[in-house]
Amino acid sequence: MNWYSLPTYYDVSFSHEMREELLFLQNIINRYSKSDSPSLIEPACGTGRLIIPLSRNGYDCAGFDLNEHALSYLKDKLNRNQLKANIFHGDMTNFNSKRKKYDAAYCTVDTFRHLLSEKQAVQHLLNIAKSLKKNGIYILGLHLIPEQGISDKITRWTAKRGRLTVKTTMKMLKLDKDKRTETLQVILNPKTKKKNEKYESIYKLRTYTLKQFHKLLSNTDVFDVVSSYNHFYDLSKPITLNARSDYGVFVLQRKG
Ligand SMILES: C[S@@+](CC[C@H](N)C(=O)[O-])C[C@H]1O[C@@H](n2cnc3c(N)ncnc32)[C@H](O)[C@@H]1O
Repeated sequence: MNWYSLPTYYDVSFSHEMREELLFLQNIINRYSKSDSPSLIEPACGTGRLIIPLSRNGYDCAGFDLNEHALSYLKDKLNRNQLKANIFHGDMTNFNSKRKKYDAAYCTVDTFRHLLSEKQAVQHLLNIAKSLKKNGIYILGLHLIPEQGISDKITRWTAKRGRLTVKTTMKMLKLDKDKRTETLQVILNPKTKKKNEKYESIYKLRTYTLKQFHKLLSNTDVFDVVSSYNHFYDLSKPITLNARSDYGVFVLQRKG
C-alpha cells in the first residue's frame, strides 16, 4: 500500500515537528518577495501539510500532485477551514502553471528525489524556473549521500492528532550508488482505542551527492544557489554544505 494513498495517516505522520520548516519557508519567501501576499507553488504538495498553514497565513498558494487521494483530502481540508488555494492534478516533470508566474516555489522532505532519472529532474527544474517571476526563488530540500560513510539507515517517530497516534518507521533497504537509487521501506502504524493497523510501502528515490546536485544545477543553468541550510532550518545560520552533509536546503534563484 502506497502511504501517500493514506492521506490522514501521512498528514499526521509528516506534520510532526514541522514548525521550524514552516517558519523558515515563510521568512525566506518574505525576504525575497516584494508582495504583501506572495504567490507560491508547491510541486507534489501531497496532503497540503504546508499549504494549509501558508494559506491561513495569507500566502496565495497553489499546489499539485499525482495522488488523487491526497488531493481530495487537501481540497476537503481547505473547504472545512474556509481557505482557498489552487489545487490541481499534475506531474512534477510537465505540470502546466497556466501562464501564472509565482514569487516562489518550494519542495522539501526529499520529494524532488521521486524523479528517478536525470532527464526528469532537468525537466522539473526547467518547468519550475519557467513558472517563476524574474528573480523568483525555489526552495529545495533533500537528503544528500555523503561522499564517505552513510547516514542513519532507520528513522522512527511517533505523531499524534486527537485520538490517533501514528508510528512511522523509515528504513533504507538498499543503496545503489551506481544506479543512483535508494530503496526505502516505510511502515505506518496508526492506532486508536479501536484499531491498530500496519501498512508497508516500498519505493525508490534518486540519490544525490552534493557534487551530483551541483552538476544538475549547472547543466540546467536556470538557477543560482543564493544560500544553503541544513535540517535545522535556521535562517540565521546559512551554511556551506560539504561532502559530509546529509541534508541540504537550497535557496535557488531564477537566473535572468
Ligand atoms: C514526501 S510526499 C511530500 C508531500 C508534501 N510536499 C509535503 O511536504 O508533505 C511526496 C509526494 O510526491 C508525490 N509525487 C511523487 N511523484 C510525483 C510526480 N512525478 N509528480 C507529482 N507528484 C508526485 C506523491 O504523490 C506524494 O504526495
